Amino acid sequence: MSNLKNIDDVFEPTHDEVSRQRFVSILRKRVLGEFAKDMQTVYSHTVEPRCERKNGRKPKTGIEVRKAMLDQPIFQEWSALRHNAQLMTWWSVQPAVERKLPEFIQVAKDAAAATPAGGSLRLNPSTAIPATVTELDVHLMPGCFHSEHLADDVAQGAVLQHGGRVFSGALTRGGSNSGWGATTARALKIKFPDFAPKSYLDLGCAVGKEMFKVIEVYPGMDNHAIDVGAPVLRYAHARAEATGVRVHFRQQNAETLDYPDNSFDFVTSSFFFHEISVKSSKAILKEVFRVLKPGGLMINQELIPVSLVTGPYEDFVIDWDAYYNNEPYYYQFRHQDLRTLFAEAGFKPKNYLQFRIPMYGTCPDATFAAAVRGEPVPPSGAHGPRWFSFGAWK
Ligand SMILES: C[S@@+](CC[C@H](N)C(=O)[O-])C[C@H]1O[C@@H](n2cnc3c(N)ncnc32)[C@H](O)[C@@H]1O
Repeated sequence: MSNLKNIDDVFEPTHDEVSRQRFVSILRKRVLGEFAKDMQTVYSHTVEPRCERKNGRKPKTGIEVRKAMLDQPIFQEWSALRHNAQLMTWWSVQPAVERKLPEFIQVAKDAAAATPAGGSLRLNPSTAIPATVTELDVHLMPGCFHSEHLADDVAQGAVLQHGGRVFSGALTRGGSNSGWGATTARALKIKFPDFAPKSYLDLGCAVGKEMFKVIEVYPGMDNHAIDVGAPVLRYAHARAEATGVRVHFRQQNAETLDYPDNSFDFVTSSFFFHEISVKSSKAILKEVFRVLKPGGLMINQELIPVSLVTGPYEDFVIDWDAYYNNEPYYYQFRHQDLRTLFAEAGFKPKNYLQFRIPMYGTCPDATFAAAVRGEPVPPSGAHGPRWFSFGAWK
C-alpha cells in the first residue's frame, strides 16, 4: 500500500455540514418512503377511480397516470420536496469541497505523478463532450460531470463522490454507496462460474463507484475505464492509485472508442444508458461489439424497462426523473426493446441476457444465490431494491 493520501479523505465537512448532509439524506428517505406510500394511497383511492368514472377505464400508461396526478396537491408537494432534496444533496457537500479544493487537486496530481498501483490517466482535452452532458446539469448536479474551473480541477469528481453518499444515505466514512457493482459481479460468479475475464472496460465510469466493486470480485484483470469528464477521471484515478487498484483511465467518448477490435473479455456500464440518447446507445453498442473479444460479455445496470414494471403507477414514479431531475432520456431508454437494441449492434438475440436480483449484502448469501438461480425467494422489497442487469455475450 502506498503512502499517497486517499482523495476521499480530503473531504472533511464541519459539524454543521455533516448535520446538513444527514438531514438531506433523511429527507430523501422520507420522501421516497412513507411520503411516496401516502401518494400511492391517494392515487388508488381517489385519482384512479376518478379516471375510471371519467374515461370508463383506469389509466394504462405511466404518462396517463402522470397527467391525472398533476393537479393533486400531494403529487405537487412530493415532487417539489424530491426536487429540492436532490438540489440540496449537492449543496450539502459543495462548501466542504470548495474549502479544500487546492488539496483535492494536489492529491490527484500526486497520484498521477507517482502511480504506485501502476495505473494511468490519459486526458484528451479535444474529446467531443456530448450535448447530453454539456447542455444540462444531469441529476441537477451543478456543473455536471465535466466542468472545470481551475487547472487540473477535480471538484466535479469530489461533489459527485461525496454527494453520492448523501444521496444514498451511506454517510459513514469508508461506508460503501455502491450496489450494482458488487451485486452483478457476484451474480455473474454464480451464474457463469467458468467466466474468467482477463481484460475489462467500464464505460462512463465517473468516479468509479461501481467499477471498483466489480474489480474486487474479479481481481487480476487488466482494467480500463473511460468517461468524457476530466474531473471525474482525475478523482477516480487518484482513488485507484491510493487504494492499490490498477486501472487505466482514458478521456474518451464511448461512441468512438480508441481501442483495437477484440480488446476486452468484459465490458460494463452502470447508470449510463438512461442518460444518453437512443441514437448514442446504438453507436456505443456497435463500438462495444467491436472491442469485445468473441466469447466476451457486456453487462449493464439500469432502471427497469417498462416491460418489467408492476403497472402504470410504478412507471409514472420511475419516469419522474425524466421530467424533474434533468434526465430527459430516461423515458426513451425504458421504452426500448433491449434485445433488439443489442441485435442491431451485432449481438445474436440468443446471446442476450437480463435478470433482476436483490442487492447483494441485504439478504443471506444463500437467498441471494437462490434468487440468482431463479428460485423462489421472499418478495421484492423484503431485501432492498432489486437491481436490473442486462447485456449480451459476443
Ligand atoms: C451517472 S454517471 C455513471 C457513473 C458510474 N458509472 C456509476 O455507476 O457510478 C454517467 C457517466 O457517463 C459519462 N458519459 C456520458 N456520456 C458519455 C459518453 N458518450 N462517453 C463516455 N462517457 C459518457 C458521464 O460523464 C458520467 O460520468
